[in-house]
Amino acid sequence: MTPAPAYSPGLEGIVAGETGISSVADGLRYRGYEVPDLAEHCNFDEVAYLLLHGDLPNKSQLAQFQTRVHAARRLTQPIRDLLKGLPKGTPPLDALRSSVSALAHFDQDTTDNSHEANLRKAERLLAQLPVAICDHYHYSRGEQVVAARQDLGQSANFLWMLRGTEPKPEDVKALDVSLILYAEHEFNASTFAARTIVSTESDLHSAITGAIGALKGRLHGGANEKIMDILKPIGTADKAEKWVRDALAKKERIMGFGHRVYKTGDVRAGILKKYAAEACARINEAKWEEIAEIIETVMANEKKMYPNLDWPAGRLYYAMGLEIPIYTPIFAMSRITGWSAHVIEQLDHNRLIRPRAIYTGPELRSVKPVAERG
Ligand code: ACO
Repeated sequence: MTPAPAYSPGLEGIVAGETGISSVADGLRYRGYEVPDLAEHCNFDEVAYLLLHGDLPNKSQLAQFQTRVHAARRLTQPIRDLLKGLPKGTPPLDALRSSVSALAHFDQDTTDNSHEANLRKAERLLAQLPVAICDHYHYSRGEQVVAARQDLGQSANFLWMLRGTEPKPEDVKALDVSLILYAEHEFNASTFAARTIVSTESDLHSAITGAIGALKGRLHGGANEKIMDILKPIGTADKAEKWVRDALAKKERIMGFGHRVYKTGDVRAGILKKYAAEACARINEAKWEEIAEIIETVMANEKKMYPNLDWPAGRLYYAMGLEIPIYTPIFAMSRITGWSAHVIEQLDHNRLIRPRAIYTGPELRSVKPVAERG
């Protein structure tokens, strides 16, 4: 047995592998491109292609990719029946997790772990996740589902399937930027969970099912559903400073602030703040931005702590009129690209992920016959 290596709780600062998909050391980059550059010049479909295939697509590569993804925007009847039959009140993210697990039974490539088969499965999941979110959304309200459109990109089609009305260009753009920003983030908890699962030579659907489970918690993707829980009870800007100071005095964690890697700010939050502010202004509810601004100032001054991406995302989606429980599913329908890219990379150069632990249990003892135990 090899000696136990250095220990860092929560694996903080530990390098646990190699990746060519994204880097955080000099600002977030996807496959060498700075994320602000991608957010400004690309749409989400192009970034999805970049993450899965390794480079930005040219016109014909993008068109072929979109044709494949658009054709896969459907669920088989048994998956629809599953979504329909879930108990009332099932959280949308749980419904999404169950959908991915069940989709494995209907994918012809489920057990094929070749690079090509994993890419095919990843493209299909990219297409199917938004459909599962929207179908569950409608079934849970007793409504008819809205069929996907073949002429729309990922963001526009999602808004179409959710609302059944022509999506507004400003909503499509804002959602698209948020999906680009959510798409990939190195060895975050859900991605690491996916890599760990598939490192046993399991399969993509199992890894994505586990990743969605890891995303759910409020310390990770679940945080974007908590932002309006903070802002709504505060209600007006004049109450914001007292609220945040009281919360800090009670040692509460303010959702949407702090990050394991970024200690001086998250560039993604800065990019999405502008879109959140514009969306709030469009509905004449600039107050959410005013409250957010005051909380940001106090957090920076008192705790040297800065917003992460979930902070503006919660406000943006709320101002777009989206229901709060689908905010983390929206994160998932973007991160499916990063998760899949990592699963493929892990399997292409696989080594079982199996770390060690420091034992903290009882000292050595010997077994007494059951009659002699107290
Ligand atoms: N609000 C108030 N205090 C905080 C916050 C916060 N959001 N985050 C950390 N702290 C405090 C901790 O209480 C701790 O204080 P202490 O030293 O007095 O005990 C100190 O800062 C260090 O905290 P850690 O938990 O060690 O920091 P870590 O790097 O592990 O945490 C995390 C990162 C989990 C994201 C944390 O900042 C947090 O809980 N944030 C709120 C949840 C959130 O927004 N999650 C989204 C993450 S980003 C994403 O998924 C897109």
